[in-house]
Amino acid sequence: MKILMVTSEIGTIAKTGGLADMVAALTRTLAANGHDVRVVMPRYRFIRRETMAGHETPLGVPMGTSERWCAVYETKLGPETHPSPGLGPIPRATVYTIEHDALYDRDGVYGTRSVPFFEDNALRFALLSRAAFQLCRALHWIPDVIHCHDWPTALVPVYARTLENRTEFDSTATFFTIHNLGYQGQFSAADAIELGIPAHDLEKAGVIVPTGLNFLRGAIKSADCVTTVSEGYAAEITTPEFGFGLDAEIRARGDGVRGIVNGIDYDEWNPSTDPYITPRFDSDSLDRKAEAKRSLQTEFNLPVDNATAVVGIVSRLAVQKGFTALCGPNGALRRIADEMPVQIVIVGTGEEWIERDLEQLSAARANVAVTIGFDERLAHIVEAGADFFLMPSQYEPCGLNQMYSLRYGTIPIVAPNGGLKDTVKQLDPATTTGTGFFITTLDSDGILDAVRHAVELRSVSPDAIDKIRLAGMAERFTWQSSMEKYIAAYEATAARVRAAGRDGISP
Ligand code: ADP
Ligand code: GLC
Repeated sequence: MKILMVTSEIGTIAKTGGLADMVAALTRTLAANGHDVRVVMPRYRFIRRETMAGHETPLGVPMGTSERWCAVYETKLGPETHPSPGLGPIPRATVYTIEHDALYDRDGVYGTRSVPFFEDNALRFALLSRAAFQLCRALHWIPDVIHCHDWPTALVPVYARTLENRTEFDSTATFFTIHNLGYQGQFSAADAIELGIPAHDLEKAGVIVPTGLNFLRGAIKSADCVTTVSEGYAAEITTPEFGFGLDAEIRARGDGVRGIVNGIDYDEWNPSTDPYITPRFDSDSLDRKAEAKRSLQTEFNLPVDNATAVVGIVSRLAVQKGFTALCGPNGALRRIADEMPVQIVIVGTGEEWIERDLEQLSAARANVAVTIGFDERLAHIVEAGADFFLMPSQYEPCGLNQMYSLRYGTIPIVAPNGGLKDTVKQLDPATTTGTGFFITTLDSDGILDAVRHAVELRSVSPDAIDKIRLAGMAERFTWQSSMEKYIAAYEATAARVRAAGRDGISP
């Protein structure tokens, strides 16, 4: 199939969270299976132009107030050769980056430390969404499916039903994946002028809400197919509790919103080949995990001691990830650190109040190490060396870290929701079967109880812990099977659009 991915993040090229991992891994798997998959994204400042091939002809993208001229630079999505030696090169997807310095020549993807959310993000990502169509035209390459992800590319299906209605894209299916309903791309009504879509059409496409514009709502109402990243989350978002005000729109979709669970990239997250960790290990050399723990304690200046359990967190520092219950004077982290024989290691960046709280927590305690920042290497070191990985998320569309943890023999302690519930098997204390601990109530007490349970089991029954570790390491969340589900859904949607067309709004 011909598939265009439109995204704000991908792989190591631009990453703030799991969206980047997901889009990269799905794209790679599609390419490796012979599909013609290409990617379009902005050229942010940190994506160096010198490393890419430039297109000769600039791209004119009609926006509300003017035509915006963009340059296009292309690169290939790594890795260059097949990770299994002897299998030769693998087909690599082309990544087109859209250069428009007035909007993208900045240090951050959505914002910077001083400006967490750029004030012109509506225009920045509307441009990306519209440029996707213009790029295909310029390439004389009309995809079967345009797959877009989260609010930054949510206007693609809206453009398809409005300004791109009755064009060469009429047989192209728009496919939208919700990675996180908590971020909707909400803007003031005044931003509508920049989008170039008449107000009454924006209204019909679902973008207009009483407070102004809501990009995500537009995609949910306009895309030919909507999916999300786990079955558990697909069910949750039909309820007011998890629907972030859009549950009615989710329920209103006749074809439903289907969950396709993310896989993980086992080439990148493999403890037996991971270049960031020492030593490497696998399920047949689990004793070496203790040495990886020593490396972690050394790296984070913690007392080197195998008897003390290490609890790791690698996370965006956001309320979603459970930091309301973790932080503060009565928060779970202080109580765990002070009441239990544990070390806590945290790598993260995000909301300032959380960063400050964590820094205070670690400054006063020898058994807590906190690194504020985004650091791929440290993320791997924590996954490899920790005994337990803590994810008390308020909601979790899929979550990747718990799956990385399982692969590294690091037992996840998770909230019982979304993708966490779908990918971690709750420990049965009677039989010690299962792959992780569930937090039954999502508050400070509940987190404390779950961690205490884990730490106590480790001290009284190391064998049970090894059994749980090995069960986790044997799990496989491969992209091949999830990709096949995407292909089936792409094909069904594309066939439907080809046969019946889409319900256009304008022009
Ligand atoms: P989300 O996308 O909601 O942040 P996921 O669990 O799906 O959550 O994915 C998070 C991804 O981002 C993982 O690959 C994780 O290792 C990575 N990550 C998050 N914070 C950091 C950080 N501070 N440094 C390095 N990697 C991080
Ligand atoms: C989002 C979600 C996370 C998911 C990721 C990739 O950022 O918060 O749960 O794993 O997208 O789909």
